Amino acid sequence: MEKAIPSLHAARFPAHVGIIMDGNGRWAEKRALVRTQGHLEGLKAAKRVTKAASELGIKYLTLYAFSTENWKRTSEEVGFIMGLIKQYLRSELDFSRQNRIRVRHTGNFPGLPPDIQKEITDTINDTKGYDGMQVILALNYGGRDEIVRALKKYVKNNPDADFSSLSEKDLTDNLDNPDIPDPDLIIRSAGEYRTSNFLLWQGAYSELFISDKLWPDWEKCDLEAAIADFQKRERRYGGVIQCA
Ligand code: IPE
Ligand code: IPE
Ligand code: MG
Repeated sequence: MEKAIPSLHAARFPAHVGIIMDGNGRWAEKRALVRTQGHLEGLKAAKRVTKAASELGIKYLTLYAFSTENWKRTSEEVGFIMGLIKQYLRSELDFSRQNRIRVRHTGNFPGLPPDIQKEITDTINDTKGYDGMQVILALNYGGRDEIVRALKKYVKNNPDADFSSLSEKDLTDNLDNPDIPDPDLIIRSAGEYRTSNFLLWQGAYSELFISDKLWPDWEKCDLEAAIADFQKRERRYGGVIQCA
């Protein structure tokens, strides 16, 4: 039976959606397959959801693809994931051109293998003029690592700074992509109720949506359901709602 798609309100669309794409391993294990097979299917889901987000008119989509902690996995799994990321960057280039999608990166760039660094740099340069959706690949990304790097950048650029006057803006201005607005909505697939080091600073007031569905099973309708749920939320940012 067709699943009913909730109707979405154009006026209350999240500008920036972040996704913690989790559950590839469990997807494979459930089918008695090797974990890498789950990552392969996860890549297909990432392509489906990127296309869906672009069709829906989302402005910024951050995809958490590999964390600073994911190096703890076997070298076989890490190598496979890095290969898939390369494949994603190459195979999505036509789609990016057709849909004017600009690809960007967040995370610890020097800590990535040189061939991945080159692939990311090439994709960023190839798409930098596009004015459609921006896809930010969080690759070798950790929220704590980004905050520490931001502080180091600040110190480097302001060697005589008086730290007693350090502001939130000083730190925000030195994050990886200071021009990108904070995520309105952070989605996590595969049912875990944790951030796993994703956008710790920027996610302070993001709405969270946790789905039990494993990432390789994600379709356009799952993204739509998450946005429909977001549209019912009352965002207060610590204030109170005034009655008329
Ligand atoms: C997410 O899926 C992909 C990465 C973290 C790279 P997992 O590989 O974490 O899948 P589970 O959590 O083991 O099911
Ligand atoms: C978070 O998933 C990282 C990515 C999706 C890239 P993990 O599977 O690494 O998170 P934990 O270990 O369950 O917290
Ligand atoms: Mg996981």
